[in-house]
Amino acid sequence: MAFREYKIGAVMFGVALSLSMFITLVMPSFNIISVGSTAVALDKQLTYGYNSGFTFSDPFLTGGAAPHRVVLRKDPASGADMEPVTAYVFSAGMPFPSGILHPAVLGEGTDDLSVEQGRINEASVEQGAVFLVQHGSYNGAEYPYIENATATRGWLPDAVLTAAGDANTSYAGAGKVIFVREGCWWCHTLLPEQTQDFQYFGAPPYLGDFNGESPTAFGSDRKAPDLLRVGARNSSKEWMMMHFFNPRLVQPHSIMPRFDYLWGETDANGNKIDYTAWRKEYLEYRRGERITPPEVPVPAPGSEARYLIDFVLNLK
Ligand code: HEC
Repeated sequence: MAFREYKIGAVMFGVALSLSMFITLVMPSFNIISVGSTAVALDKQLTYGYNSGFTFSDPFLTGGAAPHRVVLRKDPASGADMEPVTAYVFSAGMPFPSGILHPAVLGEGTDDLSVEQGRINEASVEQGAVFLVQHGSYNGAEYPYIENATATRGWLPDAVLTAAGDANTSYAGAGKVIFVREGCWWCHTLLPEQTQDFQYFGAPPYLGDFNGESPTAFGSDRKAPDLLRVGARNSSKEWMMMHFFNPRLVQPHSIMPRFDYLWGETDANGNKIDYTAWRKEYLEYRRGERITPPEVPVPAPGSEARYLIDFVLNLK
């Protein structure tokens, strides 16, 4: 019975080594495609487009290559009233997400329906396209799928944007690019952890929610609240506006930087924003020399602040 401990030790070492080999070599071979897309994954990739980080179509991360998501109340081809429909508009030249470029990414069922019924393989980047998320059945099972409304209904990108108007247009796709560029992920995660986190930050996502999304921006080292569902606990545009202009307006001890420069030169009414005057009045308020802080300007429709607010409020 000599050296019995060594035998136990050797077996334990063998088990630990094989387990870690299994985790590092075998587990990554589970392909995300085999999970299949949820409707959330289709919505996300059509909202965010091809990639929210550096791409050759948007090297300076301005959000200019990201699609627009609109709510339509009239058929843009015939002009007839209809039940509100969410459409994802890729104007000419905007790169398509991986699910359109490589339908296999969507997973079985969703892939087949998107190609056969949704005709997504007929969409062209040069001309642009309008997509919808639909539900259908394939081999007796239900799947969400993508419809290319430009092929199936003759909806053209420009006509859809005009029919919807700015009030019904979300720039959440461009906003995610700003989220990546501004490094919000240094402090915030987009993934509640498997703890009591769920009670406050909301339900954990499914694996299939991420097919075709790039990057996921999960984040790792969290210094601030998780934002995966922030729009569900705080849907106030005014609060977001004040908080981004200067977080200390709503959270006096916040360590979050101010992002007032995303407003640009002018506000929604076309008036020039005087940052120096604003700051002076704000400091007077902090010193107790004013009762109210200065008003935060409403961001102009094409401003990066508007993009970011649309992105954050869309996180539900
Ligand atoms: C230096 C770390 C830091 C950075 C960078 C940062 N934040 Fe924050 N953020 C915080 C902290 C801390 C809070 C909690 C206190 C507060 O509300 O200000 C917060 C709160 C928030 C909230 C409210 C969360 C809730 O639960 O209601 C939102 C939304 C938000 N941040 C968005 C952003 C976005 C978008 C960016 C990038 C443009 C960003 N933050 C960058 C630290 C940061």
